[in-house]
Amino acid sequence: MPFHLNPNQIEYIQRLFKHADSLIISAGAGMGVDSGLPDFRGNQGMWQAYPELGKQRIDFTEIANPAAFKHLPRLAWGFYGHRLDLYRRTMPHQGFHLLRQLAEALELPYFVFTSNVDGQFQKAGFDSKQIYECHGSIHHLQCLAACKQDIWSADELTPDIDHQDCQWLGQLPLCPNCRHLARPNILMFDDYAWLNQRQKQQMQRLDTFLKIHHQPLVIEMGAGTAIPTVRYFSERFAPDLIRINPREFTLPAQGGIALATNAESGIHSIYRIFIE
Ligand SMILES: NC(=O)c1ccc[n+]([C@@H]2O[C@H](COP(=O)([O-])OP(=O)(O)OC[C@H]3O[C@@H](n4cnc5c(N)ncnc54)[C@H](O)[C@@H]3O)[C@@H](O)[C@H]2O)c1
Ligand SMILES: [Zn+2]
Repeated sequence: MPFHLNPNQIEYIQRLFKHADSLIISAGAGMGVDSGLPDFRGNQGMWQAYPELGKQRIDFTEIANPAAFKHLPRLAWGFYGHRLDLYRRTMPHQGFHLLRQLAEALELPYFVFTSNVDGQFQKAGFDSKQIYECHGSIHHLQCLAACKQDIWSADELTPDIDHQDCQWLGQLPLCPNCRHLARPNILMFDDYAWLNQRQKQQMQRLDTFLKIHHQPLVIEMGAGTAIPTVRYFSERFAPDLIRINPREFTLPAQGGIALATNAESGIHSIYRIFIE
């Protein structure tokens, strides 16, 4: 169901698109909620999705941590292996497709800026050369000790997880070089060994994009305030900003427009302005 926009909102959005020369699509964990993915808003959501972590009172910052891989490798890989499996199985909701179709129909070059590690934009057909994953990707691996600068694909990995106990069963993923533990190539908390060459290359492409396009319009979805990387980036372009968020929809002082709704219906309502 598209979100109901009043005539003022429609006019405002039309004006934003009229003077935009490009589109920045920015997204946090809330973007995946309409595809059925959990965000990790507060311990309740996180512990509901992972009851064993709740039982042990382990919060997101403690499990999303290289130290967890070192001291509790089966639990850490239980959590990440389950997510890898989940993100592989998940189909991106219709909003992803409407966004891509909108950019194509209006001939607006786009770039995606996301803290999501789930690869859902790639899956929805967005060009991987036009995506910046500021926190890395769960579909890539690296050595826990960073013995070499290598990053490799997780495609060969088949997680076998006891979801009840959040335990990785069987052989743990290993670094092909030193044969010690491997980990996802994701920026975690207290993380001094994250290999960032993929992210750096993506950032260079984003920089080039922003050098060519001087009037981008940002559509931001589901970016939270707890780790505000995505929000800060979006706000650089305000007032040329459409913020879609059912709860944390406050705009920066420079302005913009907030749609207090979920990602899919917010995108749908924008799409309908331009394409019937
Ligand atoms: N899918 C993923 O890759 C994934 C999932 C969870 C967490 N993370 C990681 O955890 C960190 C969490 O930060 P964050 O800001 O992305 O997430 P967050 O969980 O802190 O915030 C989620 C935001 O989405 C909003 N939201 C909830 N439901 C929504 C919906 N249906 N539509 C639109 N918005 C909705 C919430 O109001 C909130 O503002 C990030 O660093 C991210 O890398 C990633
Ligand atoms: Zn190694």
